[in-house]
Amino acid sequence: MSLVEEKVCIVTGGAAGVGAGIVKTLLWENARFVAFLDIAEREGSFLEAELFAKFGALRAKFIKCDISDEEQLGAAFRQVFDKYRRLDIVVNNAAVLSADDHAYKKIVDVNFSATVNSTLNALDIMGVDKGGKGGTVVNVSTLLALRPKPSLPVYSATKIAVLQFSNSIGAEFYYSKSQVRVLTVCLGPTDTAILQKPNISNLDKDFTQNQTTQAPVRQRVESAVNGIIEVINKGESSSTWMIANDKPAVNITQNILGGFQTMTDSLGLTLDK
Ligand SMILES: NC(=O)c1ccc[n+]([C@@H]2O[C@H](COP(=O)([O-])OP(=O)(O)OC[C@H]3O[C@@H](n4cnc5c(N)ncnc54)[C@H](O)[C@@H]3O)[C@@H](O)[C@H]2O)c1
Repeated sequence: MSLVEEKVCIVTGGAAGVGAGIVKTLLWENARFVAFLDIAEREGSFLEAELFAKFGALRAKFIKCDISDEEQLGAAFRQVFDKYRRLDIVVNNAAVLSADDHAYKKIVDVNFSATVNSTLNALDIMGVDKGGKGGTVVNVSTLLALRPKPSLPVYSATKIAVLQFSNSIGAEFYYSKSQVRVLTVCLGPTDTAILQKPNISNLDKDFTQNQTTQAPVRQRVESAVNGIIEVINKGESSSTWMIANDKPAVNITQNILGGFQTMTDSLGLTLDK
């Protein structure tokens, strides 16, 4: 049985791209209810109508919400919890990509600060230590977080911040009290609008310059979504997963930890917990 069954879920950035795929798949997998938060009103309302027709009016709701606005995000969480008196799964998927580093505040606010805020909201509601029943938070990062990224310094910085935050707040120290798994997925290039924006030409150039063979495969949205559902079903808290090239999710937790270990060893530092 899928862990998704009968669960009450929130997905940020759920009106389009990977987020919309996650919303639909959660419903197909018999989630009880999925609220999807997005600023894109037209896409959100359109998807909501499609979901009503397929699943009935009680299983999905579009909430127009700028996740970088703390009040709006808090109100969206309250709206869901007040109605269902529970929350089980939160997928922090919304992000913006811009090569205009002068837009740094927005990129940091949406990609990192809102992910932190949403995770903390989720822990407050779902944490066993806060009177909740435990649950799952999936934070969406990227393979670009795993190496310096000259063409997208701010975007990639926010995404490694997401990775560090998630792995730290998902650690056993917190999980043993909260029973809320915090998981990170690093997606490879995926065929969505985020890659169609004009500034993305830099990204492609950078990719091709750094690869001797060929441009990276843009995997299907379905592959990213299936990988994320797989991670929800089997990921341990604080684990990191790679989902790329239309392949199943790969657990890269030891690669990440090994990388940090090599660095600290070479510097003669000791890693504490
Ligand atoms: N597509 C890729 O190649 C790729 C690769 C690696 C990681 N990712 C990550 O996957 C996730 C999903 O991206 P996508 O490819 O589906 O992009 P997308 O642009 O298709 O979808 C992002 C969604 O987030 C919404 N959003 C943006 N700002 C928001 C805000 N302030 N409040 C609420 N919603 C907001 C957008 O309206 C949009 O619906 C992101 O975290 C992205 O960084 C994507």
